[in-house]
Amino acid sequence: MIEHKRVKKVLFGGDYNPEQWPEEIWKEDMRLFKLARIDVVTLNVFSWAALQPDETTYDFTKLDKIMDMVQENGLKVCLATSTAAHPAWMARKYPDILRTEQNGMARRFGARHNSCPNSPTYRKYASALAEKLALRYGSRENVVAWHVSNEFGGACYCPNCQKAFRVWLRKKYKTIDELNRVWNTGFWSHTFYDWDDVVLPDLRSEEFGVDGRLRTNFQGISLDYRRFNSDSILDCYKMERDVLRRITPHIPVTTNLMGCYQSLDYHKWGREMDFISWDSYPSFGADYCQNAMAHTVMRGLKEGKPFALMEQTPGVSNWHTYCALKRPGVMRLYSYQALAHGSDTVMFFQMRRSIGACEKYHSAVIDHAGHENTRVFREVTALGRELETLGDQTLGTRVQAKAALIFDWDNWWASSLSAGPSDAIDYLGEVSAYFRALHTMHLGVDIVGVDADLSGYSLVVAPMLYMCKDGFDEKLRRFVREGGTLVSSYFSGYVEDHDLVITGGYPGRLRDILGIWVEESDALPPEGAGLRHTFTYQGKQYPAEILCDLMHLEGARALGSYDNDFYAGMPAVTCNDFGKGRAYYVATRSEEALYQALFARIAGECGLEPLVEASNQVEATLRAGDKGRFLFLLNHADSVSPVKLRRGGEDLLGGKTWADGDVVELGPKDVALLRLN
Ligand code: GLA
Ligand code: ZN
Repeated sequence: MIEHKRVKKVLFGGDYNPEQWPEEIWKEDMRLFKLARIDVVTLNVFSWAALQPDETTYDFTKLDKIMDMVQENGLKVCLATSTAAHPAWMARKYPDILRTEQNGMARRFGARHNSCPNSPTYRKYASALAEKLALRYGSRENVVAWHVSNEFGGACYCPNCQKAFRVWLRKKYKTIDELNRVWNTGFWSHTFYDWDDVVLPDLRSEEFGVDGRLRTNFQGISLDYRRFNSDSILDCYKMERDVLRRITPHIPVTTNLMGCYQSLDYHKWGREMDFISWDSYPSFGADYCQNAMAHTVMRGLKEGKPFALMEQTPGVSNWHTYCALKRPGVMRLYSYQALAHGSDTVMFFQMRRSIGACEKYHSAVIDHAGHENTRVFREVTALGRELETLGDQTLGTRVQAKAALIFDWDNWWASSLSAGPSDAIDYLGEVSAYFRALHTMHLGVDIVGVDADLSGYSLVVAPMLYMCKDGFDEKLRRFVREGGTLVSSYFSGYVEDHDLVITGGYPGRLRDILGIWVEESDALPPEGAGLRHTFTYQGKQYPAEILCDLMHLEGARALGSYDNDFYAGMPAVTCNDFGKGRAYYVATRSEEALYQALFARIAGECGLEPLVEASNQVEATLRAGDKGRFLFLLNHADSVSPVKLRRGGEDLLGGKTWADGDVVELGPKDVALLRLN
């Protein structure tokens, strides 16, 4: 990730906003940073108003001072470009910079992440600021990365965007006839005669909300709008990146992503970023697998290369509904969780807690108390010391996995925009269920997009592959034919890239690989509404939820079948031998025990071995590279968890040495990091 000649350890620090404080405080910050072994600060995230007080004036006096001070104190800098919130004068003078919401409401000045991505004003002044920053600070030795804007996101429905949408469509579809074809506008008399007939699918046209769920009359239009919006915002990132690269080709460029964030197709983003960085904010009591999955998705955006944990809270956030404190040890545990999944940094939001506006109750390394005698500061310092001792040992190593889960934004958008068969259709939830099973069984797993090279994997799991895009079926076909194992699940293979149904029987292009024909699908109302279904797999009953595919075998064999209703006896779990490989299909949503049973069988067949023997409260991952093989063990339980090792090694945190087959007794919320023999 930050391949910088002076980075010799896991970078430790985070967002620092000295501009919000009088200068006498800065000195104290430097003293405290030293105590806590902070070695990197992210500066200048929200300073546009100060840096450019009017159209022609730029003022870097304060930032110069801050940059000098952190340099004198040996700190590295992740330098942000400040373009995530525009100055008030700009909104007053050029209202085209303001976004319009989906309900048509034109916004006024306020909040942040507030600029229209297609505003010529925004683009002009954002790139100008990036250029000035690069010219002014790009030669400083301690600048280790550019941080473009901040948490890009949201959407805009303003006249700029409407114009740009038409241009985007024209480029993609060339003729209006093709546009009419892919959107199936013969339906409801929607034929477009001219590109100017096209309007954004906002709440005044195609989209509408029911019970908090967004719906659309035309999936094709809504899907293309999402692609367009993601591309528009990505263009803003690329625009700044290009300026920065031109002036400082030696400094890598990133922007902080947000994990499983639906509005942006992060696979496209990953390709444009020099390294991935992201902000991790699990809520209190959340299943640790959710955060593990988000880390895994982030790692997969750039072929498994190490990424940066750009932000996490050292203690508490302010924006969850109930902001419970991170219990003692949890900040350390989450920090190692990031490293375990491929991060090479541990960074916080924020270094000093602000006194005004909406983040004053968000915790920081330095609290409102202002001194080092706080629990959070002590925990940060202890971790700082530990990371200092760890040094560069794990830097640059890659997480090892032989199983890959497919996660695709187009598929996520398309399945959630679908009108029917069920409101309970939940792509993220479906992928999470499979991830959880693989991860808690301690089988290494990656999460990749449909463009990834699958040849290094022995198992590919593509749950709910509702949209099977052009060419992806062929990739899966080749993978299985050559000996790979595929697992897919209900609501798969229905549509092509434009959400047009593939006729001839579900699961469309996947039918020959899976050896099945799905004739109908029964959407089950949630528990209690009368339809409780089960199926039997290997002599055990499991719940069938959300959707039950009613299917016929076309070469596959049934491994399990439904117990109820008019489709009792029909297959519910199948396996098809195809070429040298196998393709499994799970025709409904079930519980973790089913997925575990299935993966136990599959792991045996394709030679996947669990990293350790331990309960599902223990996470285990393996990072490896030139520097060695590193086993991360994280105990999320509140009690001691025994972990039986396959291979022994030296614990780089605890100092103990373990032999093959030893049992490590991992304390509550404790971590072990073994360099394997
Ligand atoms: C995000 C932002 C930060 C800050 C934190 C608070 O990650 O990038 O600026 O608002 O959330 O949790
Ligand atoms: Zn706009």
